[in-house]
Amino acid sequence: MPLVTLREVLVPAAEQGYAVGAFNANNLEYVQAIVTAATAERAPVIVQASQGAIRHAGLAHITEMVRVAAREVPIPVVLHLDHGRDLELVRQCIEIGFTSVMFDGSDLPLEENIRLTARVVEWARPAGVSVEGELGRVPRVGVTAEEVRALMTDPDEAARFARETGIDALAVAVGSVHQMTQQRAVLDVPRVAAIRRATALPLVLHGSSGVAEDSLREAIRAGICKVNFATSLNVAFRRGLAEAMAEDPAGVDPRPYLARAREEVATAVRERIHLLGCSGRA
Ligand code: G3H
Ligand code: ZN
Repeated sequence: MPLVTLREVLVPAAEQGYAVGAFNANNLEYVQAIVTAATAERAPVIVQASQGAIRHAGLAHITEMVRVAAREVPIPVVLHLDHGRDLELVRQCIEIGFTSVMFDGSDLPLEENIRLTARVVEWARPAGVSVEGELGRVPRVGVTAEEVRALMTDPDEAARFARETGIDALAVAVGSVHQMTQQRAVLDVPRVAAIRRATALPLVLHGSSGVAEDSLREAIRAGICKVNFATSLNVAFRRGLAEAMAEDPAGVDPRPYLARAREEVATAVRERIHLLGCSGRA
């Protein structure tokens, strides 16, 4: 089916208490793995491309790959820009057919984050494109527990941010950390609930590869509706590639190696869709 917006998949998730998986794609094999896995789970899915993935694959290529993959399956697929910081690229994504964009102004002063996020909403709305903003900051690995806490989203500021920007979904900093390879982070679930009450928006969790599963389930019950995974898919892709190459070190045709990497990513995506309570929701 044609691509759908983020709003279309998050509204039912928020009403029914599950979350939709947002999976970062870097190349053809990731796109195929994500869409095939979601189809097998009969789940709506968000395929997202970061600025780095767009630099790697090319904007038109990534757009068309996801569009074609979506057209062939009976589940809702969203094409989303992840962590858009470059306003020109955000504008290009809206123009070329992304159905959702994130503007990440999380490292800007609040007023500036509000001003630029509201500008992106102004561009996106007439095109029927959803917008995710971020308030507070989800850091990268290497930070202390105190630093993670200091960057968390304030519920009162979130209420103002939601009101003054008109975004469709809000990325929150509630204890997760980007690029963790072990599931050790525990989320501040009462804070998730407070932000949800203050904003009434579907909330987005970043850095989800490193979150303990029980904590993730509780956060979904408290209002998280979109859950982003990148690192755990990269770990799966690399493992598949390394194992296949180790089994046939003299091979010249790369396709068997890439096919194994794709299978590993698809398995990881299916497990996570299941964890989010999203299986069978399409
Ligand atoms: O924006 C992407 C996500 O927040 C991914 O985080 O790499 O820690 O899974 P992760
Ligand atoms: Zn992120």
